[in-house]
Amino acid sequence: MALKLNKEDNIGGQDNPVSRLREMAFKPPKRIANYAYVQSMDDYEAMYELSVNDPEKFWGQIAEEFYFERDQPEGEPFFHYNFDITQGPICFNMLKGAKTNVCYNVLDWNIQRRGIGKNIAIHWEGSETDDHWSITYDELLVEVCRFANALKSLGVKKGDRVVVYMPMIAEITITMLACARIGAVHSVVFGGYSAESLAGRLIDAKAVVVVTADGAFRGDKVIPLKEITDKAIQLCLEQGHNVEHSIVVEHLPRLKKYELMGKKSCIQGPLDKSYHDIIANQSDICVPEWVDAEDPLFILYTSGSTGKPKGVLHTTAGYMMYAALTFKMVFDYKPGDVFWCTADIGWITGHTMMVYGPLANGATVVLYEGTPLYPSYTRPWTVIEKYKISQIFTAPTVIRSLMKFRNSPMLRHDISSLKVLGTAGEPINPEAWLWYFQTLGGTKCPIVDTYWQTETGGPCITPLPGATPTKPGSATFPFFGIVPELLDEDGHVVEGEGEGYLVFKQAWPGMMRTVYGDHARFEETYFRRFPGYYYTGDGAKRDSDGYIWITGRVDDMLNVSGHLLSTAQVEAAILEHKCVSEAAAVPIEHPVKGEALYCFVVLNEGLEMNKSIIGEINDKVRDKIGPIATPEKIHLAQGLPKTRSGKIMRRILRKIAAGETDFGDISTLADESVLAALIKPAKQ
Ligand code: PRX
Repeated sequence: MALKLNKEDNIGGQDNPVSRLREMAFKPPKRIANYAYVQSMDDYEAMYELSVNDPEKFWGQIAEEFYFERDQPEGEPFFHYNFDITQGPICFNMLKGAKTNVCYNVLDWNIQRRGIGKNIAIHWEGSETDDHWSITYDELLVEVCRFANALKSLGVKKGDRVVVYMPMIAEITITMLACARIGAVHSVVFGGYSAESLAGRLIDAKAVVVVTADGAFRGDKVIPLKEITDKAIQLCLEQGHNVEHSIVVEHLPRLKKYELMGKKSCIQGPLDKSYHDIIANQSDICVPEWVDAEDPLFILYTSGSTGKPKGVLHTTAGYMMYAALTFKMVFDYKPGDVFWCTADIGWITGHTMMVYGPLANGATVVLYEGTPLYPSYTRPWTVIEKYKISQIFTAPTVIRSLMKFRNSPMLRHDISSLKVLGTAGEPINPEAWLWYFQTLGGTKCPIVDTYWQTETGGPCITPLPGATPTKPGSATFPFFGIVPELLDEDGHVVEGEGEGYLVFKQAWPGMMRTVYGDHARFEETYFRRFPGYYYTGDGAKRDSDGYIWITGRVDDMLNVSGHLLSTAQVEAAILEHKCVSEAAAVPIEHPVKGEALYCFVVLNEGLEMNKSIIGEINDKVRDKIGPIATPEKIHLAQGLPKTRSGKIMRRILRKIAAGETDFGDISTLADESVLAALIKPAKQ
């Protein structure tokens, strides 16, 4: 039953329990539904049926909106895939043999066919309110061509990997598009990662070029990106990998605050090249490299449950089409809208919803360098008002961090331009959903809770703002081309209402094609558990109305503020501390971050935990991975609960971390006495 929001519902009131909120369905507001691309569930269902029953026709129509230098040769299948590992290698390709170029499509082709050359492509907003500038599509094309030519002059060619370690500035978009233009493969590494993490990715990608910046502001703090890059290059050298060029955007001198800093150029080492110097004499024209529809576009590293990050590889035409269509449909993007995604470009959300999706639609995006709470918690309201933002896309953790502030200062801002509010990255609790809906959206903007992964390229389970009645906390229904199923432990399909492992039965254009350099790992991670299906690693429920509710990771991964981390990766970092003999990390609930890390640590015989060891362990994790992985709690343990075969029983550790004492079946536990000691932690 679709309920309407009205005063009698007393939304958010004391007597409105969360369970009731979860059952409510909010109809799309008429002001959106009447003009949306998809205006009703009937329309959605008709399009959905076509997309899954006749993908060739559905995606064939989408492909017609793009420029292909050469069509697919006769006789090649439009879609070809195998998801059943028992039947042979896992593969998926689409439009193989056709030639195109993503950069050409989002810039040249868009400028020609939509006449948007003079439109703003990117409004850049710095951490400080008076640092801002904008770039049009025409200007972006020139910048991209010049940098593409500069990369070529350094010897970068089709298929080479270019690692990008930059703040949220226009040059990050320029670099990605310049790579795409010449057929090089970009791999953006989140600017919050440590030198070791960066080095690991440079080595795995066998990258010869890194593009970075001198530094970036996070609130009042400067992140020394160039220093971290230098350290990473040194680490690469020690492990036998040579990075040949380090291209540095000198960003800080452009900022008003620079006056306060000790102006010192960071272009010093033999590998260093100033971005500005190398583009200075380049031509504004760069003929695109026509690549195969299935040639790689980018690699994006994501945590893997074994601890070693996986290089998720996306290819050209399928990703381009999926990014373009999901952006357009999920946000109901219309010409003239201004879109703001708060995610970092170092995540898939940034790739798809800040670069490829919006630009493929000729949209204007806001690229904000700072943090949502700087210089005060009203910053998001200031930015929305300043740029008249139509759609905002953020993460539940950002929403939760804003919820604690009082509404009154925010009400001074005119945010009536907002039309659609998006969220992604982790399950959103109904209270946060409602706050978003009421306080930011004034109950007039549909919420699109989009479920997706680095691997999926774009949203897979998501409402459509003009069509889907939403329920707080549910990602609702599949996007076009996605066939979700819930499976039980034995791989049987759970029909109707129920809970299970979330899998996808059919290939869709935006899906990853392989783990870079390790196809066996790709097959093993996503296709071994349930042959015939892509396994997401998430659990989900389906309610009696068919709504899908993501319940979270079912593997050894956790989601801290929307950032996926593997417990194995954190444990490996802790184990590097010379005093630690064993470590186990588990997720615990956190009011703002969603999940946080709770780490059980066993020290070497005879040692006692003290503040300095805790500090050093935290530093280890920060150095190895980055500050986002810093443990919330370190719990000194005498021993860890293990099975007789020596496997750590994390299920039990999760319960201990949550303060629970009912451990369920512990018959496989090797030594029960460990438990008593863990419940009553040793003095720390
Ligand atoms: O556990 C799911 C969670 O984030 C994971 C993917 O993280 P990442 O690869 O960084 O990609 C993020 C792209 C948005 C998923 O396996 N997740 C993502 N979106 C949602 C979510 N959990 C619940 N609801 C969502 N909307």
